[in-house]
Amino acid sequence: MSNIQFIRNQNPKPKPKSDELKFGTIFTDHMFVMDYSVEKGWHDPRIVPYGPISLEPSTMVFHYGQAIFEGLKAYRNIKGEVVTFRPMDNIARLNRSAERLCIPQVDQELLWEGLKMLLEIEKDWVPAAEGTALYIRPFIIATDPYLGVRPSHTYKLFIILSPVGAYYTEGFKPVKIYVTDKYVRAARGGLGYTKAAANYAASLYAAEEAKKKGYTQVLWLDACHHRYVEEVGTMNIFFKIDGVVVTPSLEGGSILPGITRDSVITLARSMGYKVEERLISIEEVFEAHEKGKLEEVFGTGTAAVISPVGELNWNDRVIKINDGQMGEFSKLMYDKLTGIQYGREEDKFNWVKKI
Ligand code: COI
Repeated sequence: MSNIQFIRNQNPKPKPKSDELKFGTIFTDHMFVMDYSVEKGWHDPRIVPYGPISLEPSTMVFHYGQAIFEGLKAYRNIKGEVVTFRPMDNIARLNRSAERLCIPQVDQELLWEGLKMLLEIEKDWVPAAEGTALYIRPFIIATDPYLGVRPSHTYKLFIILSPVGAYYTEGFKPVKIYVTDKYVRAARGGLGYTKAAANYAASLYAAEEAKKKGYTQVLWLDACHHRYVEEVGTMNIFFKIDGVVVTPSLEGGSILPGITRDSVITLARSMGYKVEERLISIEEVFEAHEKGKLEEVFGTGTAAVISPVGELNWNDRVIKINDGQMGEFSKLMYDKLTGIQYGREEDKFNWVKKI
């Protein structure tokens, strides 16, 4: 079907060594771009050399933050093939974010075509070492040169690619998390369930405070009671308490519906674990620890994969989880999930899409 134009980069870059990869520092030779106008809808899908873009200083995204993004990965599986994991779920979530931010819906099939073509062109950039992948970052920005507050009439959609290793500098070792009841990430009725750039901007101040105290990330509580656990911002959060897997429910609309979160819930249930999606207060977590019932805590996300949490600090009450080691269940989920992604495990749920 494809009417996607392709302009080849005449100055391709050398590929990095796959055992030296960090997160989000290197970008491939090409990117996918598409424009939106009221008259033409989404148009001119194209793959062009990766490089700077030129926008007027008055461009709306710089002023009112009408910007959304997605994050997914392409993996090199054990057969050497390039595969993606649940890409249509990311594309569907991009459209849910778009709706909330008054950005026009994107044709999901066209975006998938564009992504597949881009990955086909950049397949040699997909690293092969364990724990590495090609991170895929689709995003949309408002491009009207205008200073009135209203939804833009024009947009640009990009997909850029970045070969990555572990998200956290700790690698896959347990991270230390600071629980904040002073700041909030998102309130009910707000943008919490979207991947709006604004959610990440809102998280920075508290994250910097936590960093100064020696913590890697912030655990957000609900905006109303400052009591119920929500998410970490770069990942959803799970607890294993007395044999039961518990994760905050998505009901209030203030938590990102993570695709790794959903995959872990599905995998755990299929293996016979009891999984509860419900309200969980920070008091309950600390009480469970006091009673010796807090077995494991871990985060899930495309970038973070499964990241064990080794320490929680809530108002200077500090608890160490599982002696600061990755727990058995977290390890099992990590092995199952990455097993499916890298082709070591059967893909029972049909999550993997080959390029
Ligand atoms: C992802 O996991 O893909 C995310 O979007 C988190 C990110 C902000 C690094």
